[in-house]
This record gives sequence, structure tokens and C-alpha cells, in this order.
Amino acid sequence: MEGGIDEIFERFLVESKIFRDRDKLLPDYVPNELPHRTQQIMQLAKILAPALGGYKPSNVFIYGLTGTGKTAVAKYVLRKLQEKAQDRVLFSYVNCRQNSTSYRVVAELARSLGTRIPFTGLSTSEVYRRFVSSLDRRGRIMVVVLDEIDHLVKKSGDDVLYFLTRVNEQLSSSKLSLIGITNDLKFTEFLDARVKSSLGEEELVFPPYTARELEDILRQRAAEAFNDGVLEPDVIPLCAAIAAKQNGDARLALDLLLKAADIAEREGASKVTADHVRQAQKEIEKNVTVDVIRTMPLHHKLVLLAVYLLEKEGARNITTGVIYNKYLEISRLLGIDPVTQRRVSDVINELDMAGIINARVVSLGRYGRTKIIKLSTSVRSIEEGLQEDLFMLGALEMVTR
Ligand SMILES: Nc1ncnc2c1ncn2[C@@H]1O[C@H](COP(=O)(O)OP(=O)(O)OP(=O)(O)O)[C@@H](O)[C@H]1O
Ligand SMILES: [Mg+2]
Repeated sequence: MEGGIDEIFERFLVESKIFRDRDKLLPDYVPNELPHRTQQIMQLAKILAPALGGYKPSNVFIYGLTGTGKTAVAKYVLRKLQEKAQDRVLFSYVNCRQNSTSYRVVAELARSLGTRIPFTGLSTSEVYRRFVSSLDRRGRIMVVVLDEIDHLVKKSGDDVLYFLTRVNEQLSSSKLSLIGITNDLKFTEFLDARVKSSLGEEELVFPPYTARELEDILRQRAAEAFNDGVLEPDVIPLCAAIAAKQNGDARLALDLLLKAADIAEREGASKVTADHVRQAQKEIEKNVTVDVIRTMPLHHKLVLLAVYLLEKEGARNITTGVIYNKYLEISRLLGIDPVTQRRVSDVINELDMAGIINARVVSLGRYGRTKIIKLSTSVRSIEEGLQEDLFMLGALEMVTR
């Protein structure tokens, strides 16, 4: 035990064989070059450049699937512009997943102007008012990035966007430009038509990266992060190929590379190999499933628990009816009000869609058709996903005793 702990700590005291600078692979690091995004960078720079001359840039709407470099490009261009502008232009970047209410967003904007807004206690309209007067006093162009803007709209509606897209009418010596970023186009259905057209004065689309593009991105990050020659030649192409299949997601590609290198380092290996990448891939896939299971609603968990227990008991040809009986048994044991068989049948469909179980329709000849259900996730992931829920842990112990 003692030796174990020492060993863990020691590893960080001696210099890493693998990493030169591990931080360069972390998702928040914005590199000095963003391969294959020159076009988007130039477009965004052109749109924002008028701010340097004191003119209000058009609003911009940026859309692309996850991991296509939207946040990286926006931060990169803002950083460059800020260097040029010094204090002639005001900037604010708000992540709307972390700040998902109108109050929080505008409080953040005010804070970036040096106006403190208490966490609670003011009415939203009072926060708006303080922000407007604080901005107008500065007499500047302000460029605001609202990243992951869909979270804001889903949680709090589009009031704040309505306010921000019309705020210029209330300003006499300042102007505000908006950059909205999202990976979910569906949310625009919920936008007021005027907000939609105002936000979309300019639109930038970020296409998914191809495998070749991902390789270039990884090579450039790897050069900063790793010691020379520690990556076997097939490591980067493999990470890129896997991520290219998942919608060309650069975040996944980087995550695979980082996890593979961590595994290599943990093993005390001197090189990262394709095998490490495959292990990393398994780890990531397992984590995703465990997360899905862990965040499911209670009755989904109970239905999954029923399938899990049935398989564990060696049951074959598990049907919806069999699952429902098991589910009733578990609910009774736990003192939980069960839902109807109809609802459980819906839950089974949802678990099937999520890829956690597999429901196959089989024909029973003249007796019609039925569904045969199997787990399609490893038992380990299911146990881990359910066990993290303390309540389910109790349930597992109780019914498996
Ligand atoms: N062209 C690129 N060059 C180098 N690194 C990149 C490039 N594009 C993306 N990355 C890196 O990939 C990761 C994901 O990119 P980013 O966060 O910009 O994705 P995103 O489009 O904002 O995704 P989401 O919609 O999920 O927020 C980040 O670590 C980013 O630095
Ligand atoms: Mg992003």
C-alpha cells in the first residue's frame, strides 16, 4: 500500500519519458496555429476587423458539429484582434453552458466591463440596465461571444438574445456585436424571427474534419506535447481514423492520443503504440456508456437492472413481459411505485436506441411477433453505471443477495 502511493507520486517527480508538455493536449489549450481552419479564421477576422476602426461589426452565427474547432477559432481570432486593438475594443467571451440564464450571461458581460453584479438579488431588467449604462460609459465597440448558445436558449428562452440584438438602440456612444456559436441547429426553431435574422447577419459553417486533416492537427499538437520519437508511426493515423468516423471530431482525436499516452506512461513504456490507442478507445467508449447509464432516470435504471439480473440468472429469450415481471419484483422490493407495462415497453425502446440493450423482433409464426431483448453493453459498464448511484447500489445488493 505505502509502496503503491510512493510509486504514484514518484512518477511525477522523475521526468516523463513520454511527455514534453502534457498540457498542450488538453482541450482548453488554444494552439498558435489551427491547421485547416485558415478559411474560417480569415472570414471571422474580416467580419470583425471594422471594430478596429470604431465601426460595429456584423453579428455572426457560427455552426458546426462538435469538435470542429469553433471555440478554438473564436478564441484564436479574438486573441489576435485583442492584441491589435489594445484597449480600443472591448471583448467578452461567455460560455452559455456554464452561464445558462439571462441574469448570469449579462452579469458576466457587465463583469468584463468592470461592473460587479451580485450573484442574486437584482431583477434581470436591473442587471440589463446596469450593463447598458456601464457599456455606454465606455464609449467603445464591444464584441461578445456567446459560446454553446443553444444551452442558454433551451434553459432560459431567447429574452437575453432579444435584448442583446437590440441593445444598440439604447446605446449612444458604444456599440455591441454578437458572435453566437452552437453545434445544435435545432435550437434556432425556438428563436424569435427577428433575433434569428439579426444574429445570422453573417454565418460561418465549420465542416467536420477528414481523417487527413485530423492527422495534421494531431501532428502539430503532438510536436508540442511529446518528446521526440515516442509515438510509433501508426499512432496518429489510427487516432485520426477513429475520430474521423465519429463525425470528424478533433476533441475525440486529441483525447484518444492523450489517453493512449497516459496508458503508455502508466505502464512505464518508452513508446506509445497502436495498441495503447485501442485500449484508450475502449476506455473512452466505456466511459461514455457509464455516463449515459449514470444519468438515466430512475425507471430506466430499474428496467436496465431487470434485464441485467435476468441475464445474470441465465434467462434466455427475454421478452418485454418477462422484463416487466422482473421490474415489478424489483420495484416491490424497493418500495417504488411501478409504471405501466406500456411505459416499460417505451423505456425498452429508448434503451435500445441508446445502444445499451438490443431488442430484436422475432416472428412466432401464427402467434404473431415478439421482441427478444439482450444487453448490448458490457456487464462491467452496466455495473459501474448503476453502482455509482448509491440507491441503485443498495438495490443491486438487495436483489442479488
Ligand atoms: N484546426 C485545429 N488545430 C488544432 N487543434 C484544433 C483544431 N480544431 C480543433 N482543435 C482542438 O480540438 C478540440 C476541440 O475543438 P473545439 O473546442 O474548438 O470544438 P468545438 O467546435 O467548439 O466543439 P463543441 O461544439 O463541442 O463545443 C480543442 O482542444 C481544440 O483545440
Ligand atoms: Mg466549443
